[in-house]
Amino acid sequence: MSDPFSRLATRLTYATRQLPRMAWYAGHLYVMRRLAEQVRQQEGESARPKPRSDPRIDQRLNADMAALLEQDLANVEAGIYPVPADHDGSLLTLLDRSRLFFRDLPDVDDRRKRNATREVLNAKTRGRRPHYYLQNFHFQSGGWLTEESADRYDTQVEVLFRGTANAMRRQALPPLAEAFSGHDQRKLRLIDIGCGTGRFLDFVKQAWPRLPALGLDLSEAYIRHARRHLKRWSRINLIVANAEAIPAPDNSCDAVTSIFMLHELPPEVRRTVIGEAARVLRPGGRLILMDSLQRGDEPDYDGMLERFPQHYHEPYYQTYVSEDFPAVARRYGLAHRRDTKAFVSKVMVFDKEAG
Ligand SMILES: C[S@@+](CC[C@H](N)C(=O)[O-])C[C@H]1O[C@@H](n2cnc3c(N)ncnc32)[C@H](O)[C@@H]1O
Repeated sequence: MSDPFSRLATRLTYATRQLPRMAWYAGHLYVMRRLAEQVRQQEGESARPKPRSDPRIDQRLNADMAALLEQDLANVEAGIYPVPADHDGSLLTLLDRSRLFFRDLPDVDDRRKRNATREVLNAKTRGRRPHYYLQNFHFQSGGWLTEESADRYDTQVEVLFRGTANAMRRQALPPLAEAFSGHDQRKLRLIDIGCGTGRFLDFVKQAWPRLPALGLDLSEAYIRHARRHLKRWSRINLIVANAEAIPAPDNSCDAVTSIFMLHELPPEVRRTVIGEAARVLRPGGRLILMDSLQRGDEPDYDGMLERFPQHYHEPYYQTYVSEDFPAVARRYGLAHRRDTKAFVSKVMVFDKEAG
């Protein structure tokens, strides 16, 4: 992209899409914090101490967020993917999701106070999903199980990350582009495990519209949402399945991706899932894991990583931040290639060794 006019047009399109979006979610975060402050004052300072804020960490976060956006734009300019369309929906959809988000906050807060983490484990759900799965992750209403939870999820995640969750997800695309380079996309095959509402697969299809892709997730409601979100694309299959037993033959696909899922799994399940990914990859195939930074990746953020699971119900996060992923992957014949940081997340790249 050497032509200065098309370069300018790209930058303008990128900015007009991303900046209002970030302002929208940062605005939600601001209002959410103000509401929390009001509740805190009503309850009295001693009932709930004010969360600590460190200006130095805030500055770092802002700088790392800016670096993420620069990288996102650089990837576009390098032709790795087109100027991203986040497909957040119409203004009405956005307002409706916003209403869902704010309406849930008192219930989330109440669950946090009571440490109520197992509301979704009941006579109807027991035994239908693994025990670890039947929790109110993030203290959210419905856990992973309801339509409302699926419709609310992306707003929650974007608010948490100030509108950069999708930009972080897109940082898993460059190592995919590397793996796909020189191949006919129609003959490749990708599986996204724990695909949730399908946001990452949307960006995969924006880059490779004719790539056959399978998304799987244990939540019926999230898969239904993903089907609606991804209906503009062909050659995409979305199924309810457990990543501990991926419904695909051995050595049958070129890439497996997992976005923001591993920190939600108990350690033994996490390792089984990595083993499953290795099993379905063909020799030379690529596994891309994208999730939170781990302890020690950015020492400045270690305190934040320590506090995160106390505020949001994240029962396996502490084991995630200390997991030695290269060692786990090696056990399954996956060679660690590199890690790339992306704001508060990172992308880990592994290749299945031949033979
Ligand atoms: C934090 S969400 C991440 C969703 C999505 N990948 C994203 O980018 O936002 C975790 C997802 O993992 C799914 N999940 C958790 N355990 C799973 C398992 N064993 N098999 C398949 N999906 C699972 C949940 O249903 C949920 O949709």
